[in-house]
This record gives sequence, structure tokens and C-alpha cells, in this order.
Amino acid sequence: MNYIGSKLSLLEFLENSIDKVVDKDCRVFCDLFAGTGIVGSYFKKKGYKIIANDIQYYSYVLNRHYIGNHKELTFSKLSKEISKLKKIKTKDRKDFVCGYLSNLKGKKGFVYKNYCLGGTKNKKIQRQYFLDANGMRCDAIRQKIEEWKKEKLINNNEYYFLLASLIKSIDKYANTASVYGAFLKKLKKSAQKNLILQPAELTINDQEHKVYNKDINILTKKIKGDILYLDPPYNHRQYATNYHVLETIAKYDNPKIYGKTGLRDYQNQKSLYCSRSQVKKAFKDLVLKAKTKYIFLSYNNEGLMTLKDIKAIMSLRGKYGYFTKKYNRFKADKSENRSFKANKTVEYLHYVICKNI
Ligand SMILES: C[S@@+](CC[C@H](N)C(=O)[O-])C[C@H]1O[C@@H](n2cnc3c(N)ncnc32)[C@H](O)[C@@H]1O
Repeated sequence: MNYIGSKLSLLEFLENSIDKVVDKDCRVFCDLFAGTGIVGSYFKKKGYKIIANDIQYYSYVLNRHYIGNHKELTFSKLSKEISKLKKIKTKDRKDFVCGYLSNLKGKKGFVYKNYCLGGTKNKKIQRQYFLDANGMRCDAIRQKIEEWKKEKLINNNEYYFLLASLIKSIDKYANTASVYGAFLKKLKKSAQKNLILQPAELTINDQEHKVYNKDINILTKKIKGDILYLDPPYNHRQYATNYHVLETIAKYDNPKIYGKTGLRDYQNQKSLYCSRSQVKKAFKDLVLKAKTKYIFLSYNNEGLMTLKDIKAIMSLRGKYGYFTKKYNRFKADKSENRSFKANKTVEYLHYVICKNI
């Protein structure tokens, strides 16, 4: 996923830097602004127990699968509906079920009716986030997943695997430049292809992990771990507005929507980390509450907090330091055409070794 602030290309930098600071006996890694879950997944593969969290529900769904699921999924009860499943080897069932869902006949549900041209053509505002057929496929898949869950044909682990697969897959067919703050007038090439549900990768290991869907400042005081990794928004761009369509597909709760882009209400998901006037207070509160020996913070040199602010706040807990790496800027879309000072930014990994936990 092309996610704002994704750390996909910085994983080695994070690992190498963190390894230089922490003791060898650290076991619990907390990724509490988890986004796509890519950082937690990486450290899960390195053998850590992961605690993940994000305020967005689509992110919870992704993390609930990528982090929370750690045993093979058998889909044993689903053979009541799909008898062929019994003959499929357990390890191949995820692919089989995704193939089955990909082949469902499309339905005119919420996504089609509100985010596709066909469904909105007689409404005040027309939207084209997806090809009509893909909107209908998405609705059919989403409804079937919910039906299976209600009828107890799938368990929670299987449910979140399927939802994560849908969120990850549908994003590839979105008719946007990158985020859902706007859609394109003409259907771009990738949006014209037929939606196929790709099974989300499953990392199997022995650890139990935890995943939350809470405001970090409320959650942190309840979390104990060794390493707290913080990757907050860097600027004013709210994730709730930039990924609202994914939020609605994940929740599928028939929300009231408004405006050109069909935004849902997001008052409870407005992040203080996107507000110049509130971010320092929120960050200080978070750092003071943390109950881990190490706190790491990803931030760049153009974020709402300055280097000085960060140093002052983190130093309140103990010995402070940082690592840096030059990084290519995230480009959401060309139409924004902001006058950038440079194509590269400097990515910082700040840390503090806490004196008292
Ligand atoms: C920079 S992104 C994290 C990217 C992630 N590390 C990745 O590589 O995919 C910041 C995340 O923080 C989440 N967020 C913002 N404010 C939050 C809050 N108060 N509590 C929890 N999560 C929050 C956003 O929803 C977003 O997913």
C-alpha cells in the first residue's frame, strides 16, 4: 500500500539503529501508530512479541491479521458452505477461499451506490473511486465475509484475514492518485482491471501478539513492553480523511457521508498529532506516560514539531540521541503541486533510554 508515512523502505535503517541502542534481552516491541503494520510485521519476523495499535479501523484490521494472526488458518467450518474445501490442503485454503470470493457475482451495495459512477449517476454528486464492476465485487465480497461471520462459518482470525485481504486488494484498484482525499476524473489503467482478492501474507510463529484500535494517549499507560516505537503523522494531513473509503469498507456500517468525496464523520479520529497547536502537548503527555525502557520516534525535518521540541520532550525521560537518513519525499498526487524545497527530506529516528519506568 502506498501509505502516507509508510516505513517500508526504512525498515533496515530502523532495525540497525534500534539494535545499536537496546539490550539483547528486549522481547516486546510496541508499534502504537501502526498504520499498515509493516514495522510490526518486520519485528514479528525477527522474533519479537508485538503490541500494535492505530486509531483507524482499517489499520486495526490490517494489524489484527498481519500481527495478531500467527497460526495457520484452517477454515474448517466453512466446508459446510464450500464442500470442496475439505479436499484442499490446509496451507492452500486461504488462496482457495479468496479465489471463491473473487468469483462471486457483484452486488449493488454501499460502495457501488456511493463511490462508483453507475451508483451515483442520478445523485447530486457523482463519484468514481472504483470501476462499477469492482465496486459491486467489493460489496459482494464484503457482504459475504460478514454473512460467514454471523453464521459462525468463520472464526475471528479467518474474518480479519479476509478483511485485511480485501482492504489490501481493493486499494490497488482505487481510481485515485494515491490517497482517498480525491478521485480521478478518468479511470486510470489499474482501476480498469478486475478486482481479484489476493490473500494477505500470514506470518506464522509461536508468540501471542496484541492489537488495539485506540487513541494512543489513552492506551499507552496500560501497555507494558521493552521498546516503544512511535511513528505519528508528521503534518496536518489527517489519515481519517485521506483513507475514509477504506475505513468505510472495513467497517461497512452504512455511514452518513457528505461532500464531493463522500467523507464519513471523523470527529473521534481527529489526530492531535496533525495539529500544530496541540501536537507538543500530546507528545509530551505520551512520552511521560510510556512504561517501556526505550522510546523511539520516527519524524522528519519538516514535521510540525522541531528537532528542539522533540529533544526537550524526550530528554525528560533520560538519555536522548538520534540517527538520521536521507529519504525520498512521499508524493500523494501531482495535482497538489506543492512547492517543495527539496525532493529529499531527512528522516530522524530519535530515542531515549528511560531512567525510571
Ligand atoms: C505515519 S503513519 C504510520 C505508518 C506506519 N509506521 C507504516 O509504516 O505503515 C501514522 C499512523 O498514526 C495513526 N494515528 C494518528 N493519530 C493517532 C492516535 N492519536 N492514536 C493512534 N493512532 C494514531 C494514523 O491513523 C496512521 O496510521
